[in-house]
Amino acid sequence: MVRDEFAFRGRENSPPAANVPLSFTPPPMSKIPDGPEGASIRHGMAIFENTGTEAKPFVGNQLACRSCHLDAGRKADSAPMWAAWVSYPQYRAKNKKMNTMEDRLNGCFSYSMNAQGSPSGGPPPKGDPIYADLEAYFHWLASNAPTGAKLKGAGFLKLKLPQAGYDRDRGRAVYAQHCASCHGDDGQGRTDINGRQVFPPLWGPRSYNWGAGMAQLNNAAGFIKANMPLGAGNTLTDQQAWDAAAWIDSQERPKDPRQKGTVAENVVAFHSGEKTFYGKTVDGHLLGSGTEAPVQASRR
Ligand code: HEC
Ligand code: HEC
Repeated sequence: MVRDEFAFRGRENSPPAANVPLSFTPPPMSKIPDGPEGASIRHGMAIFENTGTEAKPFVGNQLACRSCHLDAGRKADSAPMWAAWVSYPQYRAKNKKMNTMEDRLNGCFSYSMNAQGSPSGGPPPKGDPIYADLEAYFHWLASNAPTGAKLKGAGFLKLKLPQAGYDRDRGRAVYAQHCASCHGDDGQGRTDINGRQVFPPLWGPRSYNWGAGMAQLNNAAGFIKANMPLGAGNTLTDQQAWDAAAWIDSQERPKDPRQKGTVAENVVAFHSGEKTFYGKTVDGHLLGSGTEAPVQASRR
């Protein structure tokens, strides 16, 4: 496993000298203050945990923020929110501008939460209180964290691509052995008798779309290595993590909402240089074509 402790995301340009990453632990839930500030923090946490009910108009899949940012955004190496909070505003190559935390969250709704398939057809509008409450929660999680320092466990692991590359057929076998028990043979996860999603879908119409960070193999491999199988992070080899990523990210999912022309044109516009199956043909199917009919009723 290769872990670049010094590459604090978004700050690659600052000199690494003497920037030893600091350990940080967010405060326990019992420390959430009373009063209006506490109410906003609690609501932010509820949105993070139950995004599909608390931010229903803007969610077009069966995921929640917590699906990928584990332990309610507390867990190290699953892009924890305490580390994210102290690293914004930040320049992002994805949209070529300085991003505030609200810009960043708008992107999470658009891609990871597939807002195009939501009842409103898009992410929360600028200034929506959903952003303020999420930010109140992150700000509180980062209580007493140093701003601009490198915090241990920020972001996802950066896993070097192994010599043997990645392979979706090897990944299919890893998936069957280590993942299918929870996420299902068909990757659609599982709901309990009340219809509540207990294991989230990894592909198909109810999962993240082609514009999401998780659709890039390097992000998925790093996430899987540190966090999956759930409760047994860091038990797979790097090779297994890359191969499992190749299996789940070579399945069809909702369209990239930025697509205007053909998939091939969208590869050039937004996906060049990415490690992705977007725009590749697998088993005679052009990946990126999209899935129809998200779970929740759309406006159409
Ligand atoms: C399908 C998985 C997934 C879901 C669901 C998801 N995210 Fe993320 N998130 C990621 C990935 C992957 C990254 C980092 C890769 C990137 O930059 O695109 C990320 C990055 C972030 C960051 C920046 C972290 C940092 O250290 O800079 C924030 C903040 C964030 N997400 C918040 C959210 C919120 C809030 C939600 C729910 C509205 C959410 N995410 C839902 C996968 C997800
Ligand atoms: C013991 C059950 C379990 C196993 C086994 C498991 N997962 Fe997960 N996985 C979960 C749960 C639960 C979540 C969501 C975390 C949460 O909500 O707290 C999750 C989240 C994810 C996510 C992000 C959310 C999404 O839907 O895209 C990915 C990707 C993922 N798992 C991939 C895998 C892979 C690959 C394997 C096999 C190496 C695997 N998981 C094995 C339970 C499991």
